[in-house]
Amino acid sequence: MRRGSIVQLVAIGVACGAGAAAVALLIPWLPHSASRQAGRIDFVFWFVTGICIAIFALVASVIIYSIFKFRAQPGEDEDGPPIHGNTKLEVVWTAVPAVLVTAISIVSAIVLAKNDHLPHASAASDPLSPLVVNVTAQQFEWSFKYPAFGNLASARLELPIGAPVKLQITSVDVTHSFWVPEFGQKQDAVPGSVNTLAITPDRMGSYPVICTELCGLGHALMRSRADVMAKDKFLSWAKSQQKKLGGGSGSSPGLAVFKAQACSSCHTFVPAGATAKIGPDLDKLPAEAQRAGKPLEQFIHDSIVNPNAYVEPGYPKNVMPSIFAQLPKDQLDALVKYLAAGGKQ
Ligand code: CUA
Repeated sequence: MRRGSIVQLVAIGVACGAGAAAVALLIPWLPHSASRQAGRIDFVFWFVTGICIAIFALVASVIIYSIFKFRAQPGEDEDGPPIHGNTKLEVVWTAVPAVLVTAISIVSAIVLAKNDHLPHASAASDPLSPLVVNVTAQQFEWSFKYPAFGNLASARLELPIGAPVKLQITSVDVTHSFWVPEFGQKQDAVPGSVNTLAITPDRMGSYPVICTELCGLGHALMRSRADVMAKDKFLSWAKSQQKKLGGGSGSSPGLAVFKAQACSSCHTFVPAGATAKIGPDLDKLPAEAQRAGKPLEQFIHDSIVNPNAYVEPGYPKNVMPSIFAQLPKDQLDALVKYLAAGGKQ
């Protein structure tokens, strides 16, 4: 092979490789990673992408060079020379991909094993090693419970930065799937079984929690937020939430449950500053209880635990999630009392 040909081949290869690298690097294909697991997945992604760019440059340069160099001349119509093949070349182009595929599988296996790893629960000693969060999916809501903090329930996933988190994910109706793009992993929420997902958040911020399994009419709306905050901030959030929900002095425990369960995303309730119009107006509960023919407190309790027992005229059935039936009894009672008292408790 002439030196001129090699220079041409290399030049074409470099140009193609640079073009592919620009497409890979300049377009933001992946969300900005916010967990150690996502960082490792990004590493595998770039490892494979780097290999692909190199192979692409090699193949493209040979094809482009051949198209021009070995083009049939006008009027040239005889057969090409008979060739037997090239054993050396065939060995090389079998061995190189074999090595690359083996390397990719080893890197992937290491990353998968690391991403699944969680420190063994150190029982009561440290609730943040790992922080266990029970995630429950239901058409069309997420709810998060913190067993190490008095089974504190929240409609948002609040997490401390840098702590290993063990999500125990389940569903009470159909199959859903938990996904925070910035955390890099998905896990199915399956009724009757508990799937775990390990996350170690490493970037502060607020990220979307998305349901990524078609689960019904409200699938596209089945969203929440994951908030990553400093450890102190998380601990004080958990403590103040527990205090409020447990009826400590100061603000109302019912209001705390109302806020933690995000009742305000669907209902109007003036004392809590809620103005949403998806569900019935909770300022008019006494009149609604009368229409349902039940005493006020019992009506509120039943409507939370079994939302379809009585549906206010003008509102569709099956919109209010029955997930709140799983609230711890003290929190449910506090919420009922708070609503029955018109927000004065
Ligand atoms: Cu839940 Cu889609």
